Amino acid sequence: MTTLHDKVPNGLNHKEADLYRHLDSARLPKHIAIIMDGNGRWARRRHMPRVAGHRAGVAAVRSTVETAARIHIPALTLYAFSEENWKKRPVSEVSFLMSLLSRYLKAEVPTLNENNIRLEYIGRQHELPGDVQERMSWAREATARNTGMVLTLALNYSARTELVDAFRSIVHAASQNGGIDHLRIDEQTVSEHLYTRNLPDPDLVVRTSGEMRLSNFLLWQLAYAEIYVTPTLWPDFRGVHLLEGIAEYQKRERRYGGLNHHDSRTAAETLKT
Ligand code: FPP
Repeated sequence: MTTLHDKVPNGLNHKEADLYRHLDSARLPKHIAIIMDGNGRWARRRHMPRVAGHRAGVAAVRSTVETAARIHIPALTLYAFSEENWKKRPVSEVSFLMSLLSRYLKAEVPTLNENNIRLEYIGRQHELPGDVQERMSWAREATARNTGMVLTLALNYSARTELVDAFRSIVHAASQNGGIDHLRIDEQTVSEHLYTRNLPDPDLVVRTSGEMRLSNFLLWQLAYAEIYVTPTLWPDFRGVHLLEGIAEYQKRERRYGGLNHHDSRTAAETLKT
């Protein structure tokens, strides 16, 4: 195993650098997805309103994004706002989240550019308020020429809705191309019609605040992902916690439904006898 001992990137703090040095350079995840959870509980523990937790969550976003870019993770996807959040939370909390997102985009574009990060979105954007959509388009355009990490924000996102949209898109494409008789559906077709069509499937999904659920996040794409759950609440999460998650990921053996090295050798030997 080649560790990253001598190649610590600039900008990592002492603890991050320490963890980074022990990682296997050949096995860094290509795509990390994060379910940011626990803002409300963070605020409640401090006797503060829920929105204070969301506000504090922005510092966690900033630290995580910067660290991921510095260690050259090719893609990071953050579950910022689910379709369910949008429909089931009080209007005041939803408006706060929308204005927080708008302010975040305006404030962060220079930092995203400094770190060569390209911004993308997944989710039904057209259902978001017009001014937020405009700000989102502006930020995407302002970072479109960056060639480093792709930061995807899942906004008004639901994995089931994404699959419904993909199936509709497949049928529509067939209707434009020879009609339903030419409809061919396999796994590649579905992947090519998802919102994430330009991203590799995540290798690692991180969930904060200790909950053991996927909450309708990237259900198709996470089929073989390693799941890392940390008790840390999102507003307390930093780059160092991301590196802890990557270290844990590297301890896992990914089998994609096959056998591990030892069992496949034993199976081959049994067949020989
Ligand atoms: C989950 O915590 C978090 C959210 C619904 C919103 C996430 C938003 C941010 C981290 C800040 C803004 C994001 C960006 C990209 C600028 P929760 O409210 O469900 O927490 P709880 O489960 O403890 O109640």
